Parts: sequence; C-alpha cells; structure tokens
Amino acid sequence: MACSDSDYEYLRELVLAQSANVIDPSRNGLFESKLTPVVRLAGASNLEQFVKILRVERRPQLQRAVAEAMTINETSFFRDRTSFEMLRETIFPALIRLRERERRLRIWSAASSTGQEAYSLGMMLCENFPLLSDWDIKIIGTDLSREVVETARRGRYRRLEVNRGLPVQMLVKYLTRHGEEWEMNARVRAMCEFMQVNLCGVLPEMPVFDLVLLRNVLLYFPRQDRTHVFREVRRRMAPEGYLMLGNAEQAEDSTKLFHVEFSSGCYFYRPVNTA
Ligand SMILES: C[S@@+](CC[C@H](N)C(=O)[O-])C[C@H]1O[C@@H](n2cnc3c(N)ncnc32)[C@H](O)[C@@H]1O
Repeated sequence: MACSDSDYEYLRELVLAQSANVIDPSRNGLFESKLTPVVRLAGASNLEQFVKILRVERRPQLQRAVAEAMTINETSFFRDRTSFEMLRETIFPALIRLRERERRLRIWSAASSTGQEAYSLGMMLCENFPLLSDWDIKIIGTDLSREVVETARRGRYRRLEVNRGLPVQMLVKYLTRHGEEWEMNARVRAMCEFMQVNLCGVLPEMPVFDLVLLRNVLLYFPRQDRTHVFREVRRRMAPEGYLMLGNAEQAEDSTKLFHVEFSSGCYFYRPVNTA
C-alpha cells in the first residue's frame, strides 16, 4: 500500500523541523528508499504503517532517526582541493607560529559526515608538518547523524570512497588494505575523535578551537539556524582562530561575529574581537 500525500507532507515537515540539510524532501520516492532501515527498526511492514506509528506515538527517537536518514552526507577526502591547499600554505603555518609555545592545536570538523574531512586534516598535518609529531593535536568531528559518526569512528573506507580525492601515495602511506576496505592508520586515527552533535541544538562541552571547518552544511539552513550556529561556533573559537566554510557558502549574515579574509584563492573567516 502506498503513502498518501498527507503522509509525505507529514514526513517532510518532521524532517525539515530538525535539519534543513536534507536530501530534497520534495521527492517522495526518496522517503521510500532512505527510510527502509528506520521502518524496519520501528517494526513496521511499510512506510505507510510507519507514518501511522509516528503520528500516534510521536516517538522522539524515531523522529530523530527519520531526520538523520534523510540528511545529505556527501563528502570526500580533500574535498575542494584549493581549500586544503590554502590550509597548508596559509592557515596551518600561521597556527603553528601562534601555538609554538603551547604546542597544542584544537580543530573542529563540524558536520564531519563519514570522517573524510577530519582524516584529511590529520593526514595533511602528518605529511606536511613533521615538527608537529610531538604536539598535542585533536581533531574533533561532529555530525547530526549517528550512522555517519559510527562510520567515521570505524575509519574504514571502500575503494570507491578512497578513489575520491585521496592521492595514491597518501592512500598507501596512511591506510592499510583489509579485503575490500582500507583502514586509516593508527596515528591519524589517534588524532581524530567523533561524536554526535546537532548544530541547531544545545552543543556539548567542547574545547576552544583554533580552527573550525563548517563546510557544506549551512547552505540550506534558515537564517535563524545559521545565526544560532555562527554564534555558537564563535563562542567556541579562540580569538585568533580561523573558520572555513564551503566554497559556495558565506557568513554574510554574521559580520558582527566574523570578518572575511582571502588567501591562495580562498575565503576564510576570523573572529571580530570586541574586547
Ligand atoms: C554535505 S555533508 C558535508 C560533509 C563535510 N563537511 C564536507 O564538506 O565534505 C553535510 C553533513 O551535515 C550533517 N548535518 C546536517 N544537519 C546537521 C545539523 N543540524 N547538525 C549537525 N550536522 C548536520 C549531515 O548529516 C551531513 O553529514
């Protein structure tokens, strides 16, 4: 039995209420394909019965599972190469000078999806800045979706995933093959930690970050959510810190919090210090 238009409308509203960064929810067929595991988890035999359960029981855990299943998790290693080149040429050298006394760096990959962004940062630091080998470095990856956080923690990727963006010499240097999968090496994994965090909700205790990557997530957020996220990110950044957005994103509605700078073909943001 198929879902009615009002069932799809119900799902659309439920998903958009929790996150705007979702697969085009106007395509009904996507609910059928993406929600299959959640429908099974709820013990329903099809999507229509699942919506009935949701409407009656309003189980928050199930509602969150629906939103998580519909999020856009697209990512890859060294995604947007120019951004990583800029990090290597401009931001990391500046941060290393800034923190040479503490020998400590804290980095946040907010909306880290399946972890490629965080691991790319780890590999870049090992590869280009050997003097950091005895520094205290933490790269914290966070995401709304529990499933992608678990994948990131496993640190194992299929051929198709390692073929996207990861140069072959880095693949063989930093990952080990296990059958059909490649596993990130222990040194890079030790630098990276992953946890489930909703950027639009109450954020947990976190360190003060020297660098935040908030890429390809805010694009579809409504203004009030963007403002909330920028404010929360700013509160967790060092006054001398750096913020990077995705190539197609701008912090134009947060000019009181950040000012924009440009280097090596990329924009990035620095906190406006009011003190
Ligand atoms: C398109 S991926 C971007 C991944 C990575 N930053 C990159 O640029 O390759 C967007 C990620 O944002 C996550 N996301 C969506 N809404 C979120 C929210 N409210 N809080 C935290 N993460 C969210 C999704 O689960 C998804 O993994």
